[in-house]
Amino acid sequence: MQVTFSIQRYDSSKDTKPYRQKFKLEVEPTDRILDCLDRIKWDFEGSLTYRRSCSHGICGSDAININGKNMLACQILIQDIKKKFIRIDPIPGMPIIKDLVVDTTDFFTKYEVVKPYLIAKNPPPKERYQSQADRAVIDESVNCILCGACTSSCPSMWGNPNYLGPAAMLKAYRFAFDSRDEAPAEHLEAIDTSDGVWRCHTIFNCVEACPKEINLTWHISQLKKKMVEREL
Ligand code: SF4
Ligand code: FES
Repeated sequence: MQVTFSIQRYDSSKDTKPYRQKFKLEVEPTDRILDCLDRIKWDFEGSLTYRRSCSHGICGSDAININGKNMLACQILIQDIKKKFIRIDPIPGMPIIKDLVVDTTDFFTKYEVVKPYLIAKNPPPKERYQSQADRAVIDESVNCILCGACTSSCPSMWGNPNYLGPAAMLKAYRFAFDSRDEAPAEHLEAIDTSDGVWRCHTIFNCVEACPKEINLTWHISQLKKKMVEREL
């Protein structure tokens, strides 16, 4: 079947504003969007620029906006889109460097704020053991691949670019609720601000965008609950 791809182009080093370029491709329903981008680049337009690495939903580098929704190009098949016109844009809310490649500096700077690492004073005798029940508490949050699809789709972040964003909140949860972490308060204090957890207005866009099906809103609600309990 033939599908038309309308792709946003923009090179911040020379273009004054973004423009669109269309490509018609013969595709199979089981082709992935990433395969189609590769064919467009290899066969028609070598200057088309996008990120990719693992091609298997693990590295998080190829988050793009497909027909208005943030997704991973390597996870979505033509048959998932159910349209013969596919509009491809960079994920919103982040500066564009070139075509579909956005500048993630701000995203990762905000991620660093929550101290995204296990805080423990002493090394363990052998390993840091954790019961299955304790592991289950962080099970979902550990699956985040830092693709940025959630934060980029968040209206609270569009309205206030200082908001740390759902991905950073999830990471705060991942360590604050880890039974092996000895300083959960340090992760919580980093987000107990007007640009932190309280900026989440439970809009659920992040949940819809997450390619790992992580319920970010639930995790953020647990952070809010923990903070309120702390203050009582
Ligand atoms: S929570 Fe989901 S959407 Fe957000 S960065 Fe992690 S994997 Fe991507
Ligand atoms: S290329 Fe790694 S997640 Fe898609």
